[in-house]
Amino acid sequence: MSYTKLKGSEPEPLIIDDIVYKVISKDNVQSIYQLFENNSRFFSLPFEYFQRGTLEDDDLDLNLSLISFDPTLNKPIAAFIVVRRKGVNENYCFFKGCVVDKQYRRQGLGSKMLLELLRRLKEKGITQVIYGPSVPEYWQPGVDIRNTSLYFFLKKHGFKSHRAIFNLTVSLNAIDKKPVRNKHGYIYERVQPKDFKKTFEFVKQHFPNNTWADEVNFSFKLQPPSTFIAKDENNEIVGWATHSQFFPGSFGPTGVNELLRGKGIGTELFLWCLWDIKQKGLDRCEIMWVEGNTVKFYSKTFGAYISPIFYPMYKKIKYNKIH
Ligand SMILES: CC(C)(COP(=O)(O)OP(=O)(O)OC[C@H]1O[C@@H](n2cnc3c(N)ncnc32)[C@H](O)[C@@H]1OP(=O)(O)O)[C@@H](O)C(=O)NCCC(=O)NCCS
Repeated sequence: MSYTKLKGSEPEPLIIDDIVYKVISKDNVQSIYQLFENNSRFFSLPFEYFQRGTLEDDDLDLNLSLISFDPTLNKPIAAFIVVRRKGVNENYCFFKGCVVDKQYRRQGLGSKMLLELLRRLKEKGITQVIYGPSVPEYWQPGVDIRNTSLYFFLKKHGFKSHRAIFNLTVSLNAIDKKPVRNKHGYIYERVQPKDFKKTFEFVKQHFPNNTWADEVNFSFKLQPPSTFIAKDENNEIVGWATHSQFFPGSFGPTGVNELLRGKGIGTELFLWCLWDIKQKGLDRCEIMWVEGNTVKFYSKTFGAYISPIFYPMYKKIKYNKIH
């Protein structure tokens, strides 16, 4: 099979079978990052976040993360970033990102790579591939449906979706006053190293059934840490809110001790995060993965609106039965 690529206005023939797969490594991670940045219309990440989500993600599967190189130009032209989360299900794998360079699209390259990926998945006995939230470390919880080509590409290859996940966008225009440190008997502050352990344990204790504690842990590695905590008069942590853990300007996770909900502690923590995000020069905050009535709460209280919308998409891998 052959396809053409445009160089200037001159198409140059290239043989698709000449494409070589390389493994993502320290030497090429910067150029793979550039490939994503140049081709992601609705999403952008600083390099440190990309690196953390790829080479520094212990669950990155180097064999399943296919990187196609143009053999003559020796540059990456397409990439699938794939992780396995043994903590979730060792038989599943997750797409974190999937991109083909614009000038190489619609020529079967994405499909060829997907078939190669499926072949490798079968070798490993993987039963499901998911373009969705690879908790605790992911960039997006599914396919941003504005990425129309990606949505149809996965659909064509048998991926299905049964639900949508909403992020909410909030403008920071109205955030012009620094929130107060003391309010109604609670103290609000940026988490300091001396409280890292206590904060982690608070999250684990109050939200044991998800990976929020690990997500909060990531924020401790940022400079300065992007988690705010609320304490009562006994210096006990009663709630927290984290931002910029997934990407700069993202919000979540957050939580308040169940017995103290409805007192405005969560709102105050949220305002601290919005303020902090604004100080970094951003004009919007994206609240991650909001469900049910919480959407209405953020909409009524802060003028948040639903955007973007994600479809987690999955494909079950078929194995021929052995008789
Ligand atoms: C999705 C993508 C990886 C497909 O790669 P590709 O090499 O162009 O794919 P193929 O040539 O193998 O196309 C296969 C199928 O994808 C779908 N597709 C590709 N481009 C499409 C488009 N612009 N609109 C609708 N469907 C499209 C079609 O179903 C196509 O099959 P068809 O030709 O029989 O209609 C590529 O278009 C891409 O990189 N898009 C942007 C992805 C993105 O936004 N990533 C950011 C998040 S990480």
